[in-house]
Amino acid sequence: MRYTFVSKSKEETKKLGAFLAPMFKPGDVVLLKGDLGAGKTTLTSGVAKALKVQDDVISPTFNIMKCYFKGTLPLYHIDAYRLENQNIELGLDEYIEGDGVCFVEWPQFIGPLLPEETLSITLKNVGDDNREITVEGDSKRYEEMVAAVKGTF
Ligand SMILES: Nc1ncnc2c1ncn2[C@@H]1O[C@H](COP(=O)(O)OP(=O)(O)OP(=O)(O)O)[C@@H](O)[C@H]1O
Ligand SMILES: [Mg+2]
Repeated sequence: MRYTFVSKSKEETKKLGAFLAPMFKPGDVVLLKGDLGAGKTTLTSGVAKALKVQDDVISPTFNIMKCYFKGTLPLYHIDAYRLENQNIELGLDEYIEGDGVCFVEWPQFIGPLLPEETLSITLKNVGDDNREITVEGDSKRYEEMVAAVKGTF
């Protein structure tokens, strides 16, 4: 199942993250797709705020991964951009489908590490502050999330 809408501001994109946050369980994996500056980190910061993570979410581009443990569910935020398919053994698989929810920017660069069932969110800059957002999931759980988004956004 898939649903597309247009977010008209970064606040609206964060609201999508905050809306999804309470539905996540340990082991969930969310793929964040879209170009540089599309809004992937912005969406993640909305999730973090709703999970009551205290630190501000910053782009982990130079860190590959940031972990947030202070919230109601561990949040792992991976940005695979700098990996570009280099086969470095970083132990990321411990966090993907681990004890928290894992958000992955540039998932195409760590394809082999990703599980079959994921929630996929694609963001596209369609001018000014408008971002076309497509939420997609094929398993029962993730389909329910897509349906919930469809009813609200
Ligand atoms: N509707 C919107 N949704 C999300 N971000 C928006 C929106 N409108 C404007 N922006 C701006 O676009 C930028 C998105 O940056 P962000 O770091 O979230 O992108 P990203 O997809 O994580 O990029 P990167 O691949 O470089 O990590 C921010 O400066 C944000 O304020
Ligand atoms: Mg980012």
